[in-house]
Amino acid sequence: MTLAGATRNEMLLSLSNIVKSYQTAEGGIEILRGVDLDLAAAESVALAGESGSGKSTLLHLAGGLDRPDSGIILMNGQDVGALDDSGRARYRRREVGLVFQQFNLIPSLNVAANISFHAKLAGRFDVDWERELVDRLGLGDLLTRYPEQLSGGQQQRVAIGRTLAARPPLVLADEPTGNLDEATGDAVLDLMLSLSRSAGSALLLVTHSTRLAGKLDRKVFLRGGKIVP
Ligand SMILES: Nc1ncnc2c1ncn2[C@@H]1O[C@H](COP(=O)(O)OP(=O)(O)OP(=O)(O)O)[C@@H](O)[C@H]1O
Ligand SMILES: [Mg+2]
Repeated sequence: MTLAGATRNEMLLSLSNIVKSYQTAEGGIEILRGVDLDLAAAESVALAGESGSGKSTLLHLAGGLDRPDSGIILMNGQDVGALDDSGRARYRRREVGLVFQQFNLIPSLNVAANISFHAKLAGRFDVDWERELVDRLGLGDLLTRYPEQLSGGQQQRVAIGRTLAARPPLVLADEPTGNLDEATGDAVLDLMLSLSRSAGSALLLVTHSTRLAGKLDRKVFLRGGKIVP
């Protein structure tokens, strides 16, 4: 995908001069020191950086789970930082899909219900797309199982299916395969990338794998609290 000629207004997600610090017993520590990052619709970007550099912090801000100290987060031109609690809840429901290392499946729902849960909340339940996801994620035989009856890799595939079932404009994935062995993790990520493309979702993926990052449209680093190419 080429971004040549695209203006910031055409961006799906636009982070401008984002600053974020945490308070600790030793005082405040500034983690993000002026992050600028734009994602176009359906673009996939790999985010790398040392442990503790602030990658998860950045994803939490973009996902509306936390607020920056300063800076502007625009999603389709809408100022996410200016939303009140219910606005942010709606944002999380409709605009973003999160895939984190902790799969956060709902224990009391079986696989089928876990997968359709967010899509229904977002008002985007589509039975054909869901069937395709179940098929491509190889979950057909597991639909009536509960999360505790699944392996880590199976839970991860359910988590990906659940996120993509809602076709969110933006998928934020934080080292989603960190708990899996390398071969399984690679296969699951390949699948996630391919399914994000089918869903038309943009993807911001934290990964340390150069091989996986190479499959995405672009790779950026978080270093010294800023995004560097
Ligand atoms: N709630 C918090 N309170 C205080 N400090 C925090 C908090 N959350 C994160 N930090 C600190 O902020 C820094 C960035 O954390 P973050 O989790 O964003 O890093 P990361 O790049 O995702 O690291 P990793 O690759 O290990 O997951 C770390 O130094 C961490 O200790
Ligand atoms: Mg992290």
